[in-house]
Amino acid sequence: MKPIVLITGASSGIGLELARVFAAHGHELVLVARRQDRLDALAAEIAASGRPRPTVLTANLERREGASAIAAELASRGLEPAFVVNNAGFGLSGAAGTLSRDEQLAMIDLNVRALTELSLMFVDSLARHRGGILNVASIAAFVPGPGMAVYYATKAYVLSFTEALHRELSAQGVRVTALCPGPVQTEFQARSNMQLPASARSLELPADLVAQIGYDGLMRGKRVVIAGLGNKVAVSFLRFVPNALLLRLVEQRTSLASGDR
Ligand SMILES: NC(=O)c1ccc[n+]([C@@H]2O[C@H](COP(=O)([O-])OP(=O)(O)OC[C@H]3O[C@@H](n4cnc5c(N)ncnc54)[C@H](OP(=O)(O)O)[C@@H]3O)[C@@H](O)[C@H]2O)c1
Repeated sequence: MKPIVLITGASSGIGLELARVFAAHGHELVLVARRQDRLDALAAEIAASGRPRPTVLTANLERREGASAIAAELASRGLEPAFVVNNAGFGLSGAAGTLSRDEQLAMIDLNVRALTELSLMFVDSLARHRGGILNVASIAAFVPGPGMAVYYATKAYVLSFTEALHRELSAQGVRVTALCPGPVQTEFQARSNMQLPASARSLELPADLVAQIGYDGLMRGKRVVIAGLGNKVAVSFLRFVPNALLLRLVEQRTSLASGDR
C-alpha cells in the first residue's frame, strides 16, 4: 500500500494551505471535502508544480458513513495514510438555545465524531509509517464560549482528545498534535455568521503561516501548537482569569463578532 497524507477540509482556508505545505515537502496527498471543483483545482495546481497529483475524494463528513467511505476508497486504490490531518470544521455564532439544533448537532458530527473516527481508523498504518495526526482545534479550546457554546465545546474536546492520544500513541512512534489557531481570515467567518471584531485583528494570522506552523509542530512531535506569539500570550493569560469574568469577556467578544451588541 502506498503511504499518503489524508487532509480533510482541503477545499479552502487552513486546509488548503496545509495541503500546499505537505505537498511542498514531498508528501503524496488525498484531499477531502464536499466541493469537488475546488479540490480538483488544488490538485491541478500541485501537479503543475511538479509534485505528484493528489487524489481527490468528495465526502460529507457530517454523515455517519463519511469516514468509512473514505477508508473504503483508499483501500480500493491501494493507498493508506501515513499522516491524517483532521482540519474540516465549522462554527455557528449565536445563543445555543436559539440556533438550529440540527445544525449544532451536525457541527458535533463533523468537528468531533468524524475527527475522532479518522484519528482512530488508521492507527496501524500511521504506526507502520511512523507518521502522525494533526488535529485542528482552536484557541477557543481553552475557554467556554457563550455566544458560540457548541463550537467552543467541540474544540475543547479536540484539544483534550488529541493531548490524550499524543500520550497513548507515542509508544508506537505516532506523532499526534493539536494545532490551535487564533483568528484567521477564511470562509469560516461567513459560514459561522460572524466577522472578526477589530479587537481580534492584532491576533490574526494568514492561513498559509498557520499551516506552516502546524506542519512544523507535527513534524517536531509537539503535543499542542498555539499559532502565533500573541495567541500564546493570550492563552497563558486566560489561566489567571476567574471563570465568571472569562465567561463575560468571551460573551462580549462573540456578540461583537456576530454583530448583535
Ligand atoms: N478561521 C479561523 O479563524 C479559525 C480559528 C481557529 C480554528 N479554526 C479551525 O480551522 C479549521 C479550518 O477552518 P477554516 O478557517 O480554514 O475554514 P473554511 O475556509 O471554512 O474551511 C473549512 C473546510 O472544511 C470543509 N468542510 C466543511 N464542512 C464539511 C463537511 N460536512 N464534510 C467535509 N468537509 C467539510 C470545507 O469544505 P467544503 O465546504 O468543500 O466541504 C472547507 O474545506 C476548522 O476546524 C476551524 O474550526 C479556524
